[in-house]
Amino acid sequence: MGLKKAAEIEQMRPAGRFVAAVLASLQQVAEPGMTTRDLDGHAHQMIADAGARSVYLGYHPSFGAVPYPGVLCASVNDAALHGLPTDRVLAPGDVVSVDFAAEVEGWVADSAVTFQLPPTTPQAQRLITTTAAALEAGIAAARVGNRMGDISAAIGQIGLDAGFGVNADFGGHGVGRTMHEDPHVPNRGRRGSGQRLKNGLVIAIEPWFMAETEDYVVDDDGWTIRSADGSLAAHFEHTVALTDAGTVVLTARD
Ligand code: MF3
Ligand code: CO
Repeated sequence: MGLKKAAEIEQMRPAGRFVAAVLASLQQVAEPGMTTRDLDGHAHQMIADAGARSVYLGYHPSFGAVPYPGVLCASVNDAALHGLPTDRVLAPGDVVSVDFAAEVEGWVADSAVTFQLPPTTPQAQRLITTTAAALEAGIAAARVGNRMGDISAAIGQIGLDAGFGVNADFGGHGVGRTMHEDPHVPNRGRRGSGQRLKNGLVIAIEPWFMAETEDYVVDDDGWTIRSADGSLAAHFEHTVALTDAGTVVLTARD
């Protein structure tokens, strides 16, 4: 794993702050009648205004059918991850997950948030708060001296205890000069297993749970990942830096 020096972690702070500000702004402007493409446009404008760079646009990992056409992922209701921005119109009660990463001053930060447009429902709120709690538990376990499996176990246990589907196919990852670096951060695992977490490790931790199933399907676009049974999904993510002095949440929204 590529470990960062203390000075490099300091250099990553502007990227973290920018990504946090974009997600906060998206959550504020999102409302029924907007399309997910409108959300993408809003983030695109903020990137331009800040002189930042999108790391999504044109991104083409092995699992994507086409190069990524937006600057964020907007996954609505049964869509869990990698939702392509489209002409889909947001409706009251929609569960909206926004995943956004960008490069600022040569460093990347990656973060995601899920929220429900009013009126809220208890079922969706339980899924959303549980997934957020899993991220917090994962961050609490992300301490120098612990092992990767401690993060994975903390996340997975919260989802499984709540009765949600926890699929380990996609998870967190190292972050640095690029969005996806080693190591992989699985959302399920065994406490005390895996590699030792070291000073200077910077990772994105990203639990995602589905309400009723642990199976997913992929849209014809090759990107959008949905629950196989159409049940709701939620996803939260922060980029965190592990240091001997403690763990810093670079993408914290205050
Ligand atoms: N940011 C996502 C993640 O959390 C990945 C998005 S892939 C992209 O790892 F192509 F949409 F950028
Ligand atoms: Co990520």
